[in-house]
Amino acid sequence: MDFLSTLWTYATWAAVLVCLYLLLKAVYNVYFHPLSRFPGPKLAAASLWWQAYLDLWENGSLSSKLAELHATYGEIVRIGPNELHFSRPSAFHEIYSSRNRWSKGSYLYDAFVDTSSRSTFTLLDYESAKKRSELTANLFSHKSIIAMQSLVQECVDEMCANIDDHILNKRPVHFRRAFRCCTLDSICSLCFGQTTNALSAPEFRSPVEYVLGTTAPIRRLAKHIPFLMTFLRSLPSSLLRYLQPYSEGYLKVVKMLGTQIREIFANPQSLANSDHSTIYHEFVKAKDQSILTEEAFLDEGFLFFNALTVGTLHVLDDPQMYAKLMKELLEAWPRLDDRLRYETLENLPYLRAVVKESLRLSHGVVTPLTRVVPQDGSVISGEFIPGGTVVSMSNVLVHTNEEIFPEPHAFKPERWLDPAAGSLDNWLVSFSKGPRSCIGINLAYCEMYLALANLFRRYDMQLNGVSPSDWRWVDQFSPVYSGSAPLELWAQARLT
Ligand code: HEM
Repeated sequence: MDFLSTLWTYATWAAVLVCLYLLLKAVYNVYFHPLSRFPGPKLAAASLWWQAYLDLWENGSLSSKLAELHATYGEIVRIGPNELHFSRPSAFHEIYSSRNRWSKGSYLYDAFVDTSSRSTFTLLDYESAKKRSELTANLFSHKSIIAMQSLVQECVDEMCANIDDHILNKRPVHFRRAFRCCTLDSICSLCFGQTTNALSAPEFRSPVEYVLGTTAPIRRLAKHIPFLMTFLRSLPSSLLRYLQPYSEGYLKVVKMLGTQIREIFANPQSLANSDHSTIYHEFVKAKDQSILTEEAFLDEGFLFFNALTVGTLHVLDDPQMYAKLMKELLEAWPRLDDRLRYETLENLPYLRAVVKESLRLSHGVVTPLTRVVPQDGSVISGEFIPGGTVVSMSNVLVHTNEEIFPEPHAFKPERWLDPAAGSLDNWLVSFSKGPRSCIGINLAYCEMYLALANLFRRYDMQLNGVSPSDWRWVDQFSPVYSGSAPLELWAQARLT
């Protein structure tokens, strides 16, 4: 009994001391921290729990709160004890400048990984990420994607074959799932030389697509619980399967890639028979076994790909826009049986404007992507920011800036056709900017042009009750659709 009461006394004291420490730390953070002069909510300055509250209780709404915070506190807002967020568009180019060699902030990026093995995307320091991304630079170059576009076209053809099946069975097409499967198989085919067969899944219900599409809540949790991802990845697959039955499909793909990678490193000669280059070729040449972590390519490319859904939704919702796009497509592509190449499609002005506007309104990544100011500090938005500060600016605030994009929430491809629109490209930041911007940009563009052009040219389509105003995103690296209507359309094959 005595022992228990002593234990209880110690535990009470320990709890009191921890609370006191947290309280003193919060007071220090709010009033004495080097960032204390920057305005923002006091709770955000006091502790990272403010962000945890938004992520976990308010369904990840930090991004949707940012505009409101800037309206209240000004161009620079303190959103964490050591974190500032900016709203002046020029600040975007100061933070994500090609001259900067800044690291990524671990608090955000650790939510993506098993911290013991990082992919190009989650490597924090510039030097390691540069070494890794140099290995794949050739594979993802514009020239290489043009040369390998038939792989993407094959995936698009397979998507259309599945749509034909829907038509035959008088079923609406869930176009978001269709695009996601197409993205998944294109990335796999180009990077790894084989696909997950997502496109042949009945009604595009591929287990891999499903699992990748449901990781957002786990990531939100992982941002605030360090090592959660490491822990989850260490669980036996039987337990994971029990917790999430659909994870089986994803685990199979990860296993398939793992086996393939080990076999290739054991016998590099096997690559000689491949009919196109893959990321294996580059990693084997460099004798770099870190390729195992690059299964994350699947995750990264897949997560960010909402532009196709957003574009299709808006074009189908507006008869005039639909007619303009069809006129251009029919003129450039008169014979249905032909296939138009990517380099032709990317030069069709209206289609190009639709692609850019789709990228703008889908934002790429919604969450502010964090960078750490180097030791000597830096001037951002006209203010000196001390070294070590975590800084960021959400794409959303650039894409919805009224001075750059008048009527920012309207889907208007015409804004990209204006002769004075040349400088607008500078403000299309869906792929981010600077040394850590997207390395899959050419693949992403190629897929967007081929998928949109083929879909619109080969089918007459109508939305099945969903409207662009149902498109809502919540904050998790990419927009997460939270409308009530399913993202479906009715398709009819064109005859000529
Ligand atoms: C529309 C589609 C896509 C969008 C909007 C997009 C957007 C982005 C953005 C905003 C970043 C910067 C992330 C950061 O600052 O942390 C990024 C990085 C990256 N993306 Fe993409 N991406 C897309 C498709 C792809 C594809 C298809 C691949 C690969 C096959 C890919 C691979 C990567 C990689 C490896 C990085 C990390 C680069 C680095 O940190 O150095 N992305 N992407």
